[in-house]
Amino acid sequence: MGAPFFGKMKEFGSDPFGFSVGGMRKHGSVWKTRLIGSTIVFFSGPKAFTFFMDPANFTRENATAKFIQNLFHPDAVPFLDGERHKIRKWLLLEAFTDPALESYLPSIFAIFGRYAGSWLGQDRPIARDVKQLVFDMVNVLFAAGSPQASDRTLTDDFTQMVRGSFAAPINLPGTTYRKAIHARDRLRVYFKKQVAENEGEGTALGFLKQARGPKGEKLTSQEIEIELLHFFFAATSALSAALAWSLVVLGERPELAARLRAEADGVLSDGTPSLAQIRRLTLATQVSREVLRTYPMASTTFVGVARRDLEIDGMKIRAGWKGIGLPTATLQDASTFRNPGAFEPDRLSDEALRALPENAFVPMGGGPRDGHRCGGEELVKMVMPAFISWFVRNHDWTFPEQDVSPGPGSVGPLPKGGLRMQVRKRARGGAEQPIAHRIDRGRTCTDW
Ligand code: HEM
Repeated sequence: MGAPFFGKMKEFGSDPFGFSVGGMRKHGSVWKTRLIGSTIVFFSGPKAFTFFMDPANFTRENATAKFIQNLFHPDAVPFLDGERHKIRKWLLLEAFTDPALESYLPSIFAIFGRYAGSWLGQDRPIARDVKQLVFDMVNVLFAAGSPQASDRTLTDDFTQMVRGSFAAPINLPGTTYRKAIHARDRLRVYFKKQVAENEGEGTALGFLKQARGPKGEKLTSQEIEIELLHFFFAATSALSAALAWSLVVLGERPELAARLRAEADGVLSDGTPSLAQIRRLTLATQVSREVLRTYPMASTTFVGVARRDLEIDGMKIRAGWKGIGLPTATLQDASTFRNPGAFEPDRLSDEALRALPENAFVPMGGGPRDGHRCGGEELVKMVMPAFISWFVRNHDWTFPEQDVSPGPGSVGPLPKGGLRMQVRKRARGGAEQPIAHRIDRGRTCTDW
């Protein structure tokens, strides 16, 4: 249980991925520890994860530590439960329907093009750019920002907020938590202005403003502002990591990149791809899933609290104890995924996915869409294969020797070496150049 009161917070806070995978390997799929005064039970593997996601067992209401709720807002969707959560989630999911997703594609590809253009002929780390790319994308989609402009100050504020959500909750001048609160306040001012001044036509903000529930419910401006903060948080950290690690995979695996290019050439045309085309990118979809399974993205779900005394596999859980699902540990569970550290996209074909037990593939949480599963899942499922295929179709690159172990960070850590890639326009016509040169593998990340 660790030290009195703080428990294992130091170990968890400094490396939640290693802590959760290591905990599963040592203690099994259900185990408990203490974090800042609370007993927390961790759940990994399909059976235990399903048990945790069952709303009859755990509620999200009053579950997450107050200092984190205050950072985001106690009324944000991950902290709601029951009927209020259902309605809020229904309304939010209106921004992730097929017509909504399809309408985002021109802006998304304009941003891809702007960034990849700036990488041409350069030899420098681009992980920070990838983060900014995703931030710009979310800013355009959800806050009606400009696709042509970047605001690194806002991105830095998000980074600060993410740090604060995993730091000791000491609200004193100079602490990480206090800095996170200040960063949050600057972001709130920005969202208030964007929501008030933009109808958001053709963007997710517009879909959120137009969303209506089964009984005519709608989101107030304040609710949209609250949810934007969390959308930005989720995207800037986890989705940017997903794209950055996808580039690492392309850099390290030229043979796989060549297969992806052949698929992209067969499916995509020269204009902006459609959603239907993206959904025909079978290999890119499998690679995206395997990136989410293999690399560190989100180590935990949000917190739940046991509604009553519970028991699973002989472990007794008292009413009021807290619970957390462990996506990364579940994805690294050797009883589901043989040799789980190995990168094998073929193991996540549609057919293989259907054959897995319920809640075995949970990079974005589990259970039904209208439960607490990630709200942005459909966007991620579109953006990852779209990015990978567009990148391989239009570029060649060299991937120099570098450190690709995960850097610091609790949600979506980026490669330590900063992701160095020398990107060139794809050589077309005449003799095809080799698609990619891998110089050396350097240190790797997937050896859990
Ligand atoms: C690779 C990228 C992403 C990963 C790995 C990821 C992962 C997760 C995980 C593990 C959860 C917690 C589920 C739970 O508490 O049970 C979550 C929740 C959530 N995510 Fe994501 N996420 C990603 C991107 C996004 C994006 C881009 C958005 C929105 C634009 C988003 C919106 C949300 C929302 C709204 C929730 C809370 C859902 C609820 O409690 O009902 N996520 N995500």
